[in-house]
Amino acid sequence: MRKKVSSSGAAGQPYKKEAQSQRRQPEDPYGAFGHLRDEDHCPSHGVGSQSPDQAFQKDGQTQCHKKWFPVKSHVFHMAETGIFVKDKTMVDFAALQNREQTLAVVGLGYVGLPLAVAFSRHMNVLGFDINAGRIEELRKGHDRTNEVTDEALAAATIEYTCDPADLARAAVIIVAVPTPIDEHRSPDLTPVVGASHTVGRHMPKGCVVVYESTVYPGLTEEICVPILEQESGLTYGTDFTVGYSPERINPGDKVHTLETIKKIVSGSDQATADLLAQVYGSVVKAGIHRASSIKVAEAAKVIENTQRDLNIALMNELAIIFERLGIDTLEVLEAAGTKWNFLPFRPGLVGGHCIGVDPYYLTFKAEEMGFHPEVILAGRRTNDNMGKYVAECLVKRLIKNGNVVSGARVGILGFTFKENVPDLRNTRVVDVIRELKEYNVVPLVHDAEADPAEAMREYGQELVDLDQLRDLDAVLLAVSHKAYAALTPEDIKARCKDGNKAVLMDVKGFFDPQAMRAAGIDYWRL
Ligand SMILES: NC(=O)c1ccc[n+]([C@@H]2O[C@H](COP(=O)([O-])OP(=O)(O)OC[C@H]3O[C@@H](n4cnc5c(N)ncnc54)[C@H](O)[C@@H]3O)[C@@H](O)[C@H]2O)c1
Repeated sequence: MRKKVSSSGAAGQPYKKEAQSQRRQPEDPYGAFGHLRDEDHCPSHGVGSQSPDQAFQKDGQTQCHKKWFPVKSHVFHMAETGIFVKDKTMVDFAALQNREQTLAVVGLGYVGLPLAVAFSRHMNVLGFDINAGRIEELRKGHDRTNEVTDEALAAATIEYTCDPADLARAAVIIVAVPTPIDEHRSPDLTPVVGASHTVGRHMPKGCVVVYESTVYPGLTEEICVPILEQESGLTYGTDFTVGYSPERINPGDKVHTLETIKKIVSGSDQATADLLAQVYGSVVKAGIHRASSIKVAEAAKVIENTQRDLNIALMNELAIIFERLGIDTLEVLEAAGTKWNFLPFRPGLVGGHCIGVDPYYLTFKAEEMGFHPEVILAGRRTNDNMGKYVAECLVKRLIKNGNVVSGARVGILGFTFKENVPDLRNTRVVDVIRELKEYNVVPLVHDAEADPAEAMREYGQELVDLDQLRDLDAVLLAVSHKAYAALTPEDIKARCKDGNKAVLMDVKGFFDPQAMRAAGIDYWRL
Protein backbone atom coordinates (compact mmCIF):
# COMPACT_ATOMS: atom_id res chain seq x y z
CA MET A 1 0.00 0.00 0.00
CA ARG A 2 1.29 3.45 -0.76
CA LYS A 3 2.17 5.72 2.10
CA LYS A 4 1.02 9.07 0.84
CA VAL A 5 -2.70 9.65 0.62
CA SER A 6 -2.70 11.61 -2.60
CA SER A 7 0.18 13.51 -3.99
CA SER A 8 -0.09 12.92 -7.66
CA GLY A 9 -3.68 12.08 -8.41
CA ALA A 10 -5.07 12.26 -11.84
CA ALA A 11 -1.91 13.02 -13.63
CA GLY A 12 0.03 10.26 -12.03
CA GLN A 13 3.55 11.45 -11.54
CA PRO A 14 4.67 12.40 -8.07
CA TYR A 15 5.70 15.96 -7.49
CA LYS A 16 9.41 16.59 -7.77
CA LYS A 17 10.79 19.67 -6.13
CA GLU A 18 12.41 21.93 -8.69
CA ALA A 19 15.91 23.17 -8.18
CA GLN A 20 15.98 26.62 -6.63
CA SER A 21 16.82 29.14 -9.28
CA GLN A 22 18.24 32.59 -9.20
CA ARG A 23 15.72 35.32 -8.64
CA ARG A 24 14.06 35.91 -11.99
CA GLN A 25 14.73 39.00 -14.05
CA PRO A 26 11.66 39.45 -16.28
CA GLU A 27 12.69 39.74 -19.92
CA ASP A 28 9.39 41.25 -20.93
CA PRO A 29 7.74 42.59 -17.83
CA TYR A 30 5.20 44.42 -19.96
CA GLY A 31 4.13 41.46 -22.04
CA ALA A 32 1.20 40.45 -19.87
CA PHE A 33 -0.37 43.86 -19.66
CA GLY A 34 -1.44 44.81 -23.14
CA HIS A 35 -2.63 48.28 -23.70
CA LEU A 36 -2.52 51.59 -21.83
CA ARG A 37 -5.90 52.50 -20.38
CA ASP A 38 -7.21 56.05 -20.27
CA GLU A 39 -7.63 55.93 -16.54
CA ASP A 40 -4.07 54.76 -15.93
CA HIS A 41 -2.53 58.03 -14.90
CA CYS A 42 0.80 57.94 -13.20
CA PRO A 43 -0.15 58.62 -9.59
CA SER A 44 3.26 59.98 -8.73
CA HIS A 45 2.62 62.89 -11.08
CA GLY A 46 -0.74 63.51 -9.49
CA VAL A 47 -2.15 63.98 -12.94
CA GLY A 48 -5.76 62.99 -12.46
CA SER A 49 -7.11 65.71 -14.72
CA GLN A 50 -4.92 64.90 -17.67
CA SER A 51 -5.06 61.96 -19.96
CA PRO A 52 -1.84 59.94 -19.72
CA ASP A 53 -1.68 60.10 -23.47
CA GLN A 54 -1.42 63.89 -23.30
CA ALA A 55 0.70 63.93 -20.20
CA PHE A 56 3.36 61.42 -20.92
CA GLN A 57 3.33 60.15 -24.43
CA LYS A 58 5.71 61.13 -27.17
CA ASP A 59 6.66 59.03 -30.19
CA GLY A 60 4.96 55.96 -28.75
CA GLN A 61 6.74 56.31 -25.42
CA THR A 62 5.56 57.23 -21.95
CA GLN A 63 7.57 59.33 -19.58
CA CYS A 64 7.54 59.02 -15.83
CA HIS A 65 10.16 59.99 -13.32
CA LYS A 66 12.28 61.37 -16.14
CA LYS A 67 12.49 57.90 -17.68
CA TRP A 68 10.93 56.81 -20.97
CA PHE A 69 8.92 53.58 -21.25
CA PRO A 70 7.08 52.00 -24.16
CA VAL A 71 3.46 53.14 -24.02
CA LYS A 72 2.17 49.74 -23.07
CA SER A 73 4.56 49.55 -20.15
CA HIS A 74 2.90 52.46 -18.42
CA VAL A 75 0.75 50.18 -16.27
CA PHE A 76 3.81 48.20 -15.36
CA HIS A 77 5.67 51.37 -14.55
CA MET A 78 3.05 52.35 -12.00
CA ALA A 79 4.04 49.29 -10.04
CA GLU A 80 7.73 49.71 -10.79
CA THR A 81 7.66 53.02 -8.98
CA GLY A 82 6.31 51.25 -5.91
CA ILE A 83 3.02 53.11 -5.88
CA PHE A 84 0.01 51.15 -4.75
CA VAL A 85 -2.87 51.91 -7.03
CA LYS A 86 -5.86 51.89 -4.75
CA ASP A 87 -9.18 50.50 -6.00
CA LYS A 88 -7.60 49.12 -9.12
CA THR A 89 -5.69 46.01 -10.11
CA MET A 90 -3.13 46.08 -12.83
CA VAL A 91 -5.11 43.34 -14.55
CA ASP A 92 -7.88 44.52 -16.79
CA PHE A 93 -10.99 42.33 -17.07
CA ALA A 94 -11.83 43.82 -20.47
CA ALA A 95 -8.34 42.99 -21.69
CA LEU A 96 -8.83 39.40 -20.50
CA GLN A 97 -12.15 39.23 -22.33
CA ASN A 98 -10.61 40.76 -25.46
CA ARG A 99 -7.91 38.12 -25.26
CA GLU A 100 -5.23 40.79 -24.91
CA GLN A 101 -4.26 39.39 -21.52
CA THR A 102 -3.91 35.73 -20.59
CA LEU A 103 -5.16 33.62 -17.69
CA ALA A 104 -3.06 30.60 -16.66
CA VAL A 105 -4.15 27.51 -14.74
CA VAL A 106 -1.40 25.68 -12.84
CA GLY A 107 -2.26 22.01 -12.24
CA LEU A 108 -4.58 20.40 -14.79
CA GLY A 109 -6.27 17.70 -12.72
CA TYR A 110 -9.88 17.16 -11.69
CA VAL A 111 -10.18 20.83 -10.71
CA GLY A 112 -7.77 22.65 -13.01
CA LEU A 113 -8.76 21.15 -16.34
CA PRO A 114 -12.52 21.89 -16.20
CA LEU A 115 -11.59 25.38 -15.02
CA ALA A 116 -9.21 25.92 -17.94
CA VAL A 117 -11.78 24.58 -20.41
CA ALA A 118 -14.52 26.87 -19.05
CA PHE A 119 -12.30 29.97 -19.08
CA SER A 120 -11.04 29.21 -22.58
CA ARG A 121 -14.55 29.96 -23.88
CA HIS A 122 -14.11 33.56 -22.71
CA MET A 123 -10.40 34.36 -22.64
CA ASN A 124 -6.89 33.23 -23.61
CA VAL A 125 -5.93 30.31 -21.40
CA LEU A 126 -2.55 28.80 -20.73
CA GLY A 127 -2.67 25.37 -19.05
CA PHE A 128 0.47 24.45 -17.12
CA ASP A 129 1.24 21.14 -15.41
CA ILE A 130 4.53 19.67 -14.19
CA ASN A 131 3.48 16.27 -15.46
CA ALA A 132 4.61 16.10 -19.08
CA GLY A 133 2.50 12.94 -19.58
CA ARG A 134 -0.63 14.80 -18.56
CA ILE A 135 0.18 17.67 -20.94
CA GLU A 136 0.80 15.17 -23.73
CA GLU A 137 -2.52 13.37 -23.25
CA LEU A 138 -4.42 16.67 -23.13
CA ARG A 139 -2.72 17.82 -26.31
CA LYS A 140 -3.87 14.57 -27.88
CA GLY A 141 -7.42 15.42 -26.80
CA HIS A 142 -8.28 13.00 -24.00
CA ASP A 143 -8.91 13.59 -20.29
CA ARG A 144 -8.56 10.33 -18.42
CA THR A 145 -10.36 11.70 -15.35
CA ASN A 146 -13.52 11.82 -17.53
CA GLU A 147 -14.35 15.27 -16.15
CA VAL A 148 -14.09 16.78 -19.65
CA THR A 149 -15.37 14.96 -22.72
CA ASP A 150 -13.20 14.57 -25.82
CA GLU A 151 -15.59 16.89 -27.69
CA ALA A 152 -15.35 19.63 -25.06
CA LEU A 153 -11.58 19.27 -24.97
CA ALA A 154 -11.37 19.51 -28.76
CA ALA A 155 -13.50 22.68 -28.67
CA ALA A 156 -11.34 24.31 -25.98
CA THR A 157 -8.57 26.62 -27.15
CA ILE A 158 -6.07 26.02 -24.38
CA GLU A 159 -2.34 26.41 -24.84
CA TYR A 160 -0.90 23.45 -22.90
CA THR A 161 2.59 23.72 -21.55
CA CYS A 162 4.98 22.20 -19.07
CA ASP A 163 7.43 25.08 -19.50
CA PRO A 164 7.01 27.30 -16.42
CA ALA A 165 8.61 30.25 -18.28
CA ASP A 166 5.34 30.55 -20.20
CA LEU A 167 3.69 31.78 -16.98
CA ALA A 168 5.48 35.11 -17.55
CA ARG A 169 2.75 35.83 -20.12
CA ALA A 170 -0.13 35.43 -17.65
CA ALA A 171 -1.94 38.31 -15.99
CA VAL A 172 -4.00 35.97 -13.77
CA ILE A 173 -2.52 32.69 -12.51
CA ILE A 174 -4.85 30.16 -10.87
CA VAL A 175 -3.20 27.41 -8.82
CA ALA A 176 -5.14 24.12 -8.56
CA VAL A 177 -2.60 21.58 -7.33
CA PRO A 178 -3.25 18.75 -4.84
CA THR A 179 -3.25 19.27 -1.08
CA PRO A 180 -2.89 15.76 0.34
CA ILE A 181 -1.90 14.56 3.80
CA ASP A 182 1.16 12.51 4.64
CA GLU A 183 1.38 9.17 6.45
CA HIS A 184 1.09 11.02 9.78
CA ARG A 185 -2.13 12.71 8.59
CA SER A 186 -0.47 16.10 8.52
CA PRO A 187 -0.86 18.46 5.55
CA ASP A 188 1.59 17.61 2.81
CA LEU A 189 2.25 21.02 1.30
CA THR A 190 4.82 19.81 -1.23
CA PRO A 191 2.66 20.50 -4.33
CA VAL A 192 1.26 23.85 -3.20
CA VAL A 193 4.68 25.04 -2.03
CA GLY A 194 6.31 23.72 -5.22
CA ALA A 195 3.72 25.45 -7.40
CA SER A 196 4.24 28.71 -5.48
CA HIS A 197 8.00 28.53 -6.13
CA THR A 198 7.35 27.94 -9.82
CA VAL A 199 4.79 30.72 -10.11
CA GLY A 200 6.92 33.13 -8.09
CA ARG A 201 9.90 32.55 -10.31
CA HIS A 202 8.02 33.35 -13.49
CA MET A 203 5.02 35.54 -12.71
CA PRO A 204 5.05 39.00 -14.26
CA LYS A 205 4.78 42.15 -12.25
CA GLY A 206 1.21 43.26 -11.71
CA CYS A 207 -0.36 39.83 -11.90
CA VAL A 208 -2.98 38.29 -9.63
CA VAL A 209 -2.26 34.81 -8.25
CA VAL A 210 -5.36 32.87 -7.19
CA TYR A 211 -5.30 29.67 -5.15
CA GLU A 212 -8.09 27.10 -5.60
CA SER A 213 -6.49 24.23 -3.68
CA THR A 214 -8.16 23.33 -0.39
CA VAL A 215 -6.01 24.64 2.47
CA TYR A 216 -6.29 25.59 6.13
CA PRO A 217 -7.25 29.18 7.01
CA GLY A 218 -4.18 31.37 6.67
CA LEU A 219 -2.09 29.13 4.42
CA THR A 220 -2.31 31.31 1.31
CA GLU A 221 -1.00 34.42 3.04
CA GLU A 222 1.31 32.75 5.56
CA ILE A 223 3.00 30.17 3.32
CA CYS A 224 2.36 30.97 -0.35
CA VAL A 225 2.68 34.76 -0.44
CA PRO A 226 6.18 34.85 1.15
CA ILE A 227 7.35 32.27 -1.42
CA LEU A 228 5.90 34.33 -4.27
CA GLU A 229 7.66 37.44 -2.92
CA GLN A 230 10.95 35.68 -2.33
CA GLU A 231 11.06 34.03 -5.76
CA SER A 232 9.87 37.02 -7.76
CA GLY A 233 11.55 39.81 -5.87
CA LEU A 234 8.20 41.59 -6.10
CA THR A 235 6.28 43.19 -3.26
CA TYR A 236 2.92 41.78 -2.21
CA GLY A 237 0.10 44.32 -2.45
CA THR A 238 2.14 46.67 -4.59
CA ASP A 239 3.55 44.57 -7.41
CA PHE A 240 1.11 41.68 -7.29
CA THR A 241 -2.00 40.64 -5.40
CA VAL A 242 -3.50 37.34 -4.38
CA GLY A 243 -6.93 35.74 -4.31
CA TYR A 244 -8.47 32.56 -2.99
CA SER A 245 -11.45 30.84 -4.60
CA PRO A 246 -12.15 27.34 -3.35
CA GLU A 247 -13.28 24.64 -5.72
CA ARG A 248 -16.54 22.83 -4.95
CA ILE A 249 -16.87 20.40 -7.85
CA ASN A 250 -17.89 16.82 -7.21
CA PRO A 251 -16.09 14.33 -9.50
CA GLY A 252 -18.42 12.33 -11.71
CA ASP A 253 -21.35 14.66 -10.94
CA LYS A 254 -22.70 16.08 -14.19
CA VAL A 255 -25.35 18.21 -12.41
CA HIS A 256 -23.22 20.06 -9.87
CA THR A 257 -20.49 21.47 -12.09
CA LEU A 258 -18.23 24.50 -12.11
CA GLU A 259 -20.90 26.49 -13.93
CA THR A 260 -23.79 25.45 -11.67
CA ILE A 261 -22.21 25.74 -8.21
CA LYS A 262 -22.05 29.15 -6.54
CA LYS A 263 -18.40 30.23 -6.31
CA ILE A 264 -16.74 31.87 -3.34
CA VAL A 265 -14.13 34.50 -4.23
CA SER A 266 -11.83 36.57 -2.06
CA GLY A 267 -8.92 38.88 -2.65
CA SER A 268 -6.05 40.47 -0.79
CA ASP A 269 -7.66 43.83 -1.55
CA GLN A 270 -11.03 45.04 -2.76
CA ALA A 271 -9.88 45.58 -6.33
CA THR A 272 -8.61 42.01 -6.58
CA ALA A 273 -11.85 40.64 -5.12
CA ASP A 274 -13.80 42.75 -7.64
CA LEU A 275 -11.69 41.53 -10.52
CA LEU A 276 -12.04 37.89 -9.46
CA ALA A 277 -15.80 38.27 -9.08
CA GLN A 278 -15.84 39.40 -12.72
CA VAL A 279 -13.42 36.74 -13.91
CA TYR A 280 -15.23 33.83 -12.22
CA GLY A 281 -18.60 35.43 -12.93
CA SER A 282 -17.88 35.03 -16.63
CA VAL A 283 -17.99 31.23 -16.30
CA VAL A 284 -20.02 30.48 -13.15
CA LYS A 285 -23.70 30.89 -13.89
CA ALA A 286 -24.86 30.09 -10.33
CA GLY A 287 -23.45 33.33 -8.94
CA ILE A 288 -20.54 34.57 -6.88
CA HIS A 289 -20.25 34.92 -3.11
CA ARG A 290 -17.60 37.42 -2.01
CA ALA A 291 -15.97 36.38 1.23
CA SER A 292 -14.70 39.25 3.34
CA SER A 293 -11.14 37.91 3.38
CA ILE A 294 -8.94 35.17 2.02
CA LYS A 295 -8.94 33.48 5.45
CA VAL A 296 -12.75 33.42 5.54
CA ALA A 297 -12.87 31.81 2.09
CA GLU A 298 -10.21 29.24 3.07
CA ALA A 299 -12.12 28.37 6.25
CA ALA A 300 -15.45 28.10 4.41
CA LYS A 301 -14.10 25.45 2.06
CA VAL A 302 -12.46 23.35 4.74
CA ILE A 303 -15.56 23.32 6.96
CA GLU A 304 -17.86 22.28 4.12
CA ASN A 305 -16.05 18.96 3.96
CA THR A 306 -15.53 18.75 7.72
CA GLN A 307 -19.26 19.07 8.27
CA ARG A 308 -19.94 16.32 5.75
CA ASP A 309 -17.28 14.09 7.30
CA LEU A 310 -18.79 14.50 10.76
CA ASN A 311 -22.32 13.79 9.58
CA ILE A 312 -21.17 10.58 7.92
CA ALA A 313 -19.24 9.67 11.08
CA LEU A 314 -22.47 9.97 13.05
CA MET A 315 -24.23 7.67 10.56
CA ASN A 316 -21.35 5.18 10.83
CA GLU A 317 -21.55 5.17 14.60
CA LEU A 318 -25.32 4.65 14.40
CA ALA A 319 -24.76 1.77 11.97
CA ILE A 320 -22.44 0.07 14.48
CA ILE A 321 -25.02 0.52 17.26
CA PHE A 322 -27.92 -0.72 15.10
CA GLU A 323 -25.91 -3.77 14.00
CA ARG A 324 -25.69 -4.77 17.67
CA LEU A 325 -29.40 -4.08 18.11
CA GLY A 326 -30.23 -6.19 15.09
CA ILE A 327 -32.00 -3.41 13.21
CA ASP A 328 -31.41 -2.20 9.68
CA THR A 329 -29.72 1.23 9.59
CA LEU A 330 -31.13 2.28 6.23
CA GLU A 331 -34.65 1.42 7.39
CA VAL A 332 -34.13 3.59 10.47
CA LEU A 333 -32.79 6.44 8.32
CA GLU A 334 -35.71 6.11 5.93
CA ALA A 335 -38.14 6.44 8.83
CA ALA A 336 -36.27 9.32 10.51
CA GLY A 337 -35.92 11.05 7.13
CA THR A 338 -39.66 11.69 7.06
CA LYS A 339 -39.04 14.55 9.51
CA TRP A 340 -38.55 17.84 7.63
CA ASN A 341 -35.22 18.72 9.26
CA PHE A 342 -33.56 15.29 9.41
CA LEU A 343 -30.46 15.43 7.20
CA PRO A 344 -30.14 12.70 4.55
CA PHE A 345 -26.66 11.30 5.29
CA ARG A 346 -25.77 7.61 5.01
CA PRO A 347 -23.05 5.46 6.53
CA GLY A 348 -20.08 4.39 4.41
CA LEU A 349 -16.37 4.31 3.74
CA VAL A 350 -15.09 7.89 3.59
CA GLY A 351 -12.36 8.05 0.96
CA GLY A 352 -11.20 10.47 -1.68
CA HIS A 353 -8.91 13.43 -1.56
CA CYS A 354 -11.41 15.83 0.03
CA ILE A 355 -13.76 14.66 2.79
CA GLY A 356 -11.34 12.30 4.46
CA VAL A 357 -8.41 14.68 4.06
CA ASP A 358 -9.54 18.29 4.46
CA PRO A 359 -10.56 18.00 8.14
CA TYR A 360 -6.93 17.19 8.95
CA TYR A 361 -5.92 20.56 7.47
CA LEU A 362 -8.27 22.27 9.90
CA THR A 363 -7.23 20.16 12.91
CA PHE A 364 -3.55 20.74 12.07
CA LYS A 365 -4.09 24.50 12.17
CA ALA A 366 -6.22 24.26 15.33
CA GLU A 367 -3.47 22.33 17.10
CA GLU A 368 -0.87 24.82 15.89
CA MET A 369 -3.01 27.44 17.64
CA GLY A 370 -2.98 25.38 20.85
CA PHE A 371 -6.47 23.91 20.56
CA HIS A 372 -7.13 20.18 20.34
CA PRO A 373 -10.34 19.60 18.36
CA GLU A 374 -12.17 16.67 19.97
CA VAL A 375 -15.27 16.39 17.82
CA ILE A 376 -13.63 16.64 14.40
CA LEU A 377 -10.93 14.10 15.24
CA ALA A 378 -13.44 11.71 16.84
CA GLY A 379 -15.39 11.75 13.57
CA ARG A 380 -12.21 11.11 11.61
CA ARG A 381 -11.33 8.15 13.86
CA THR A 382 -14.78 6.61 13.39
CA ASN A 383 -14.64 7.01 9.61
CA ASP A 384 -11.06 5.78 9.33
CA ASN A 385 -12.03 2.57 11.18
CA MET A 386 -15.00 1.64 9.00
CA GLY A 387 -12.97 -0.50 6.58
CA LYS A 388 -11.78 -2.66 9.48
CA TYR A 389 -15.32 -2.84 10.85
CA VAL A 390 -16.78 -3.99 7.52
CA ALA A 391 -14.10 -6.69 7.18
CA GLU A 392 -14.83 -7.94 10.71
CA CYS A 393 -18.56 -8.12 9.96
CA LEU A 394 -17.76 -10.22 6.88
CA VAL A 395 -15.54 -12.61 8.83
CA LYS A 396 -18.30 -13.11 11.45
CA ARG A 397 -20.76 -13.79 8.64
CA LEU A 398 -18.49 -16.39 7.06
CA ILE A 399 -18.05 -18.17 10.38
CA LYS A 400 -21.80 -18.11 11.05
CA ASN A 401 -22.46 -19.68 7.65
CA GLY A 402 -19.97 -22.47 8.24
CA ASN A 403 -17.39 -21.21 5.75
CA VAL A 404 -13.71 -21.63 6.56
CA VAL A 405 -12.26 -18.16 7.02
CA SER A 406 -8.62 -18.90 6.31
CA GLY A 407 -8.30 -19.16 2.54
CA ALA A 408 -11.90 -17.96 1.92
CA ARG A 409 -12.24 -16.26 -1.47
CA VAL A 410 -14.05 -12.93 -1.36
CA GLY A 411 -15.00 -11.09 -4.55
CA ILE A 412 -14.81 -7.34 -4.02
CA LEU A 413 -16.81 -5.16 -6.40
CA GLY A 414 -15.34 -1.67 -6.68
CA PHE A 415 -12.00 -0.18 -5.70
CA THR A 416 -12.37 3.55 -6.48
CA PHE A 417 -13.17 6.06 -3.74
CA LYS A 418 -16.66 6.65 -5.09
CA GLU A 419 -19.11 5.38 -7.66
CA ASN A 420 -18.87 5.90 -11.41
CA VAL A 421 -15.46 7.62 -11.41
CA PRO A 422 -12.02 6.13 -12.07
CA ASP A 423 -10.55 8.11 -9.14
CA LEU A 424 -8.49 5.92 -6.82
CA ARG A 425 -7.14 8.64 -4.56
CA ASN A 426 -7.39 7.76 -0.89
CA THR A 427 -9.79 4.89 -1.54
CA ARG A 428 -10.69 3.28 1.79
CA VAL A 429 -11.52 -0.04 0.14
CA VAL A 430 -7.85 -0.75 0.85
CA ASP A 431 -8.68 -0.85 4.58
CA VAL A 432 -11.22 -3.64 4.02
CA ILE A 433 -8.72 -5.58 1.92
CA ARG A 434 -5.90 -5.09 4.43
CA GLU A 435 -8.05 -6.34 7.31
CA LEU A 436 -9.34 -9.35 5.34
CA LYS A 437 -5.76 -10.33 4.57
CA GLU A 438 -5.06 -10.31 8.32
CA TYR A 439 -7.55 -13.19 8.53
CA ASN A 440 -5.86 -14.92 5.59
CA VAL A 441 -8.90 -14.26 3.42
CA VAL A 442 -8.16 -14.05 -0.34
CA PRO A 443 -9.67 -10.85 -1.83
CA LEU A 444 -10.28 -10.78 -5.58
CA VAL A 445 -10.91 -7.19 -6.61
CA HIS A 446 -12.78 -5.97 -9.67
CA ASP A 447 -13.50 -2.36 -10.59
CA ALA A 448 -15.67 -1.27 -13.49
CA GLU A 449 -14.03 2.17 -13.80
CA ALA A 450 -10.48 2.14 -12.42
CA ASP A 451 -7.30 1.81 -14.43
CA PRO A 452 -5.70 -1.53 -13.38
CA ALA A 453 -2.20 -0.15 -14.00
CA GLU A 454 -2.87 2.77 -11.65
CA ALA A 455 -4.26 0.42 -8.97
CA MET A 456 -1.08 -1.63 -9.20
CA ARG A 457 1.21 1.41 -9.25
CA GLU A 458 -0.45 3.28 -6.40
CA TYR A 459 -1.58 0.42 -4.14
CA GLY A 460 0.12 -2.75 -5.42
CA GLN A 461 -3.42 -4.09 -5.91
CA GLU A 462 -4.25 -6.36 -8.82
CA LEU A 463 -7.64 -5.75 -10.42
CA VAL A 464 -9.16 -8.85 -12.00
CA ASP A 465 -11.81 -9.38 -14.69
CA LEU A 466 -15.37 -9.91 -13.52
CA ASP A 467 -15.17 -13.44 -14.97
CA GLN A 468 -12.48 -14.27 -12.45
CA LEU A 469 -14.87 -13.73 -9.53
CA ARG A 470 -15.71 -17.45 -9.31
CA ASP A 471 -15.65 -20.10 -6.54
CA LEU A 472 -16.26 -17.40 -3.98
CA ASP A 473 -17.30 -17.65 -0.36
CA ALA A 474 -18.66 -14.12 -0.31
CA VAL A 475 -19.23 -11.07 -2.48
CA LEU A 476 -18.60 -7.60 -1.06
CA LEU A 477 -19.96 -4.62 -2.94
CA ALA A 478 -17.70 -1.73 -1.93
CA VAL A 479 -18.52 0.83 -4.64
CA SER A 480 -21.88 1.16 -6.37
CA HIS A 481 -20.71 1.62 -9.95
CA LYS A 482 -23.75 1.52 -12.21
CA ALA A 483 -22.17 -1.44 -14.05
CA TYR A 484 -22.98 -3.60 -10.99
CA ALA A 485 -26.69 -2.79 -11.03
CA ALA A 486 -27.25 -5.60 -13.52
CA LEU A 487 -26.05 -8.29 -11.06
CA THR A 488 -29.00 -10.49 -10.06
CA PRO A 489 -29.28 -12.81 -7.02
CA GLU A 490 -28.68 -15.71 -9.41
CA ASP A 491 -25.45 -14.09 -10.67
CA ILE A 492 -24.22 -13.65 -7.11
CA LYS A 493 -25.03 -17.27 -6.20
CA ALA A 494 -23.46 -18.57 -9.39
CA ARG A 495 -20.18 -16.92 -8.46
CA CYS A 496 -20.10 -18.67 -5.09
CA LYS A 497 -18.67 -22.13 -4.32
CA ASP A 498 -21.87 -23.09 -2.57
CA GLY A 499 -24.90 -21.01 -3.53
CA ASN A 500 -26.62 -22.02 -0.30
CA LYS A 501 -23.87 -20.47 1.80
CA ALA A 502 -23.48 -17.33 -0.32
CA VAL A 503 -22.76 -14.18 1.68
CA LEU A 504 -23.35 -10.74 0.17
CA MET A 505 -21.91 -7.72 2.00
CA ASP A 506 -23.59 -4.67 0.49
CA VAL A 507 -21.57 -1.77 1.94
CA LYS A 508 -23.47 0.77 -0.15
CA GLY A 509 -26.98 -0.61 0.37
CA PHE A 510 -27.12 -0.94 -3.43
CA PHE A 511 -29.04 -4.16 -3.97
CA ASP A 512 -32.61 -5.12 -3.10
CA PRO A 513 -32.41 -6.93 0.26
CA GLN A 514 -35.71 -8.75 -0.18
CA ALA A 515 -34.73 -10.15 -3.58
CA MET A 516 -31.33 -11.29 -2.30
CA ARG A 517 -32.74 -12.88 0.86
CA ALA A 518 -35.58 -14.53 -1.07
CA ALA A 519 -32.93 -16.22 -3.21
CA GLY A 520 -31.30 -17.67 -0.08
CA ILE A 521 -28.33 -15.28 0.05
CA ASP A 522 -27.10 -14.20 3.48
CA TYR A 523 -27.45 -10.46 2.79
CA TRP A 524 -25.85 -7.77 4.99
CA ARG A 525 -25.72 -4.02 4.54
CA LEU A 526 -24.11 -1.22 6.52
N1 LIG B 1 -11.19 16.80 -7.25
C1 LIG B 1 -12.17 17.41 -6.62
O1 LIG B 1 -13.32 17.03 -6.74
C2 LIG B 1 -11.92 18.61 -5.75
C3 LIG B 1 -13.02 19.31 -5.30
C4 LIG B 1 -12.81 20.46 -4.54
C5 LIG B 1 -11.52 20.82 -4.23
N2 LIG B 1 -10.45 20.10 -4.66
C6 LIG B 1 -9.12 20.56 -4.30
O2 LIG B 1 -8.51 21.08 -5.48
C7 LIG B 1 -7.10 20.83 -5.45
C8 LIG B 1 -6.68 20.08 -6.70
O3 LIG B 1 -7.31 18.81 -6.68
P1 LIG B 1 -7.44 17.92 -7.97
O4 LIG B 1 -8.46 16.90 -7.62
O5 LIG B 1 -7.64 18.71 -9.21
O6 LIG B 1 -5.99 17.27 -8.01
P2 LIG B 1 -5.38 16.33 -9.16
O7 LIG B 1 -4.45 15.43 -8.48
O8 LIG B 1 -6.47 15.79 -10.00
O9 LIG B 1 -4.60 17.33 -10.11
C9 LIG B 1 -3.58 18.14 -9.72
C10 LIG B 1 -2.67 18.41 -10.91
O10 LIG B 1 -1.67 19.28 -10.42
C11 LIG B 1 -0.44 18.86 -10.99
N3 LIG B 1 0.63 19.37 -10.14
C12 LIG B 1 1.08 18.89 -8.97
N4 LIG B 1 2.06 19.67 -8.49
C13 LIG B 1 2.22 20.66 -9.38
C14 LIG B 1 3.08 21.78 -9.45
N5 LIG B 1 3.95 22.04 -8.50
N6 LIG B 1 3.00 22.58 -10.52
C15 LIG B 1 2.10 22.34 -11.50
N7 LIG B 1 1.26 21.30 -11.49
C16 LIG B 1 1.32 20.47 -10.43
C17 LIG B 1 -0.52 17.37 -11.06
O11 LIG B 1 0.39 16.87 -12.02
C18 LIG B 1 -1.99 17.17 -11.44
O12 LIG B 1 -2.16 17.12 -12.84
C19 LIG B 1 -6.85 20.08 -4.14
O13 LIG B 1 -6.51 20.99 -3.15
C20 LIG B 1 -8.20 19.46 -3.83
O14 LIG B 1 -8.36 19.23 -2.45
C21 LIG B 1 -10.63 19.00 -5.42
